[in-house]
Amino acid sequence: MSMTEKTTLEAKPKIDKGLDDVYVKESSICLVDGVRGRLLYHGWDIRDLAEHSSFEETVYILVHGHLPNKDELAQVKQAFAESRAIDPEMVKLLRSMPKDAPPIDVLRTAVSYLSNFDKERDDPTRAANMRKAQRLIGKMPTLVAAHHRIRQGKRVLPPDPSLGIAEDFLRMLTGRNPDPLSAKVMDVALILHADHSMNASAFAATVAASTLADLYSAIVAAIATLKGPLHGGANEAALKTMLTIGRPENAEAYVLNTLRNHGKVFGFGHRVYKTWDPRAIILREYARQLSELRGQMDLFHVAEIVQDTVVKELSAKHIYPNVDFYSGLTYHLLGIPPDLFTPIFAVSRISGWTAHVIEYWEDNRLVRPLDYYVGPTDNVYVPIDQRA
Ligand SMILES: CC(C)(COP(=O)(O)OP(=O)(O)OC[C@H]1O[C@@H](n2cnc3c(N)ncnc32)[C@H](O)[C@@H]1OP(=O)(O)O)[C@@H](O)C(=O)NCCC(=O)NCCS
Repeated sequence: MSMTEKTTLEAKPKIDKGLDDVYVKESSICLVDGVRGRLLYHGWDIRDLAEHSSFEETVYILVHGHLPNKDELAQVKQAFAESRAIDPEMVKLLRSMPKDAPPIDVLRTAVSYLSNFDKERDDPTRAANMRKAQRLIGKMPTLVAAHHRIRQGKRVLPPDPSLGIAEDFLRMLTGRNPDPLSAKVMDVALILHADHSMNASAFAATVAASTLADLYSAIVAAIATLKGPLHGGANEAALKTMLTIGRPENAEAYVLNTLRNHGKVFGFGHRVYKTWDPRAIILREYARQLSELRGQMDLFHVAEIVQDTVVKELSAKHIYPNVDFYSGLTYHLLGIPPDLFTPIFAVSRISGWTAHVIEYWEDNRLVRPLDYYVGPTDNVYVPIDQRA
């Protein structure tokens, strides 16, 4: 008797549809403290990392679990710089994508194709997986930037190994060396999105990995999962709200009207954070600085009034801004179009995905949940010419 058959004979089990309260592994990678509003990577507070670290060092911490010394940091930076170039065949693939293909779909396809260029793809050892993770993390920004240039009819720019990942990403995307504030903001955004414990995309990667599929397959599953608006897409919606409001004097009425009609204001509320999301507070400050640098304060003032109004109206329900409220605005101020927001999320989150998969493989178990069968059990097969 199979497990599924067994469940149909028993009393209806408790069905945990969203797996909200299910733990699938022990982990030392990331703590989301939704009560105190803290996010820790291997014990280091993201507020410290955002201020003092770099994306490269943060990736090192996620994967290795300790702060690198000077030599280790230099080595990891060099390894990422050397991994960043992509094969001309890959550029051909990007050129062959339909002009209006969503960049997140292109990225998913590109990562799948990338596996064919990796001689270690099917080597399951931890050392090989660490090297594959490093190559993947290095190439993701290049893939996103190259496709964006192609769809704009512009020349694809090769990576500059003398620059860090964040700065080089903006350069490859825009064709200009970014100003220091923009480079810093991109770096911080990558640090803040690098991991968030066992979320939907990390779980999708874990499920694929649990079958002992290769790392690339696990990452393709994660990108596919990140695409959904309930996961990676909320910052686009939050920015659209701000652009729709347009002027600060319209903001309060817009929010009150939305709430009166029982609508949701995008970029607020979170399943885990029941207080301020620390990432939102950090990005709000950088959005303010970028707005000042650009001399365009209107949208930032809109955001502040929306924030104050929602918090005033909904703090009793523990609704506060989440990271998406300010990341959309931040990317907009960096001149990045909205359909790149989710691919940029992936450029950062690949570090968390690979860390989780490698951690899971240390004590792998095939993920195989149950469903509770409620269909018929005694249907009689009728040949086609005897059916009514
Ligand atoms: C993220 C989210 C799904 C969390 O949901 P949740 O933990 O299940 O919380 P609920 O949806 O049950 O919300 C609890 C209450 O707060 C309200 N609420 C939650 N988020 C809200 C928002 N963004 N705007 C207005 N009201 C909101 C709900 O309407 C509900 O009110 P009720 O108790 O009167 O019915 C939810 O807050 C949301 O949809 N936010 C907007 C989308 C978003 O920003 N997503 C990105 C998350 S990182």
